[in-house]
Amino acid sequence: MTTNSLDTLFRTEFPLEQHLIHLNHAAVGPWPMRSVYAIKRFSDENMYLGSQNYLNWLKTENQLRLRLSKLINAASVSEIALSKNTSEALSIVAYGLDWSPGDEVVITNQEFPSNRIVWESLQDRFGVVVKVTDLNTAEDPESAILKCLSQRTRLVSVSSIQYGTGLKLDLTLLGNEIKSRNILFCVDAIQSVGACKVDVQRDKIDFLMADGHKWMLGPEGLALFFVKKDALNSLKLNQFGWHMVKDRGNFDRHDWEPADTAIRFECGSPNMLATHALNESVGLLLEVGIEVVEDLVKNKVKTLADHLQAIPGISLVTDLANSRYAGILTFRHSSRDSRHLFDTLNSLDVLCAARGGGIRFSPHFYTPDEKLAAACERLETALR
Ligand SMILES: Cc1ncc(COP(=O)(O)O)c(C=O)c1O
Repeated sequence: MTTNSLDTLFRTEFPLEQHLIHLNHAAVGPWPMRSVYAIKRFSDENMYLGSQNYLNWLKTENQLRLRLSKLINAASVSEIALSKNTSEALSIVAYGLDWSPGDEVVITNQEFPSNRIVWESLQDRFGVVVKVTDLNTAEDPESAILKCLSQRTRLVSVSSIQYGTGLKLDLTLLGNEIKSRNILFCVDAIQSVGACKVDVQRDKIDFLMADGHKWMLGPEGLALFFVKKDALNSLKLNQFGWHMVKDRGNFDRHDWEPADTAIRFECGSPNMLATHALNESVGLLLEVGIEVVEDLVKNKVKTLADHLQAIPGISLVTDLANSRYAGILTFRHSSRDSRHLFDTLNSLDVLCAARGGGIRFSPHFYTPDEKLAAACERLETALR
């Protein structure tokens, strides 16, 4: 696509209010026009035709699975389940594995609560030990994580990009080391999928989860859950229903077996409304191309960083060196309280978040450069 056609596409798909500057994709992204229309069409169809075209809905669902599998380079669409959210998928993994007392799980101290609480919950129930890598002081985050591995480590679970600092881990390095020790590798990729290239095969990932409402630009409540084929049987099932069996449509049959695919983790009726929207949003990302999306996202963050660094008193929390970032740029001011600054920015229609001990800006591939400059001008106003 040429720069001009991309510009036109972005203006059409994201007609955000002129005054609003949306730098909050790491929290909840806006929906593209095509996804909004998919929801409108789906609502009309339900009103006028009910479920007459249910078979078409299933085709849309299958298309979404296929698109998601492409987005993360899964070997097969059969490795994709649709779950409610990232936390649910993490819980399916945590409560699917067979634990023995003393088994260890390695996480980091920058994880969002979803990727901490679930592992901590195993401590009292199964005697699992949670080892926490301190990333705040580590010179080399991957080495620090690997240092926490022992003979008892069963699983490493990390966010591909930390929600507060924006630190992007080298998953390829981690995956190779972790798998060479026969340990399971679980990745909370909610801050990566849709913002940058993700490759579950290259990075030897066993389990990966990402809700659709951030960088994938879909509605809340529908998430991608990848389970590598070889790891499928390592998870016992804890949720059951008509949908997760092999011969799904045959309601008269009384014997059953779980599906051979990741669909075994989907116990009942799917979230069809969100499916229609997310399918369009992911379609847009694939149409633009995830490499192009990643380049644009990184350029936006770089541009923002240049503007911010010209403002006296501002320092960056996010490490922009060595490609250790994607869409998150967190910063703070030497003498101003971040919470207060965040409130002021919000009142000036700069949508952002207070995270990682500072203010988090998270632009996406379509964010116009003028809006990046304008956000920093409004920050300067807030500092006056
Ligand atoms: C890294 C990370 N993991 C998980 C979540 C929560 O995901 P969900 O609501 O899909 O469970 C968030 C939300 O901000 C997040 O940033």
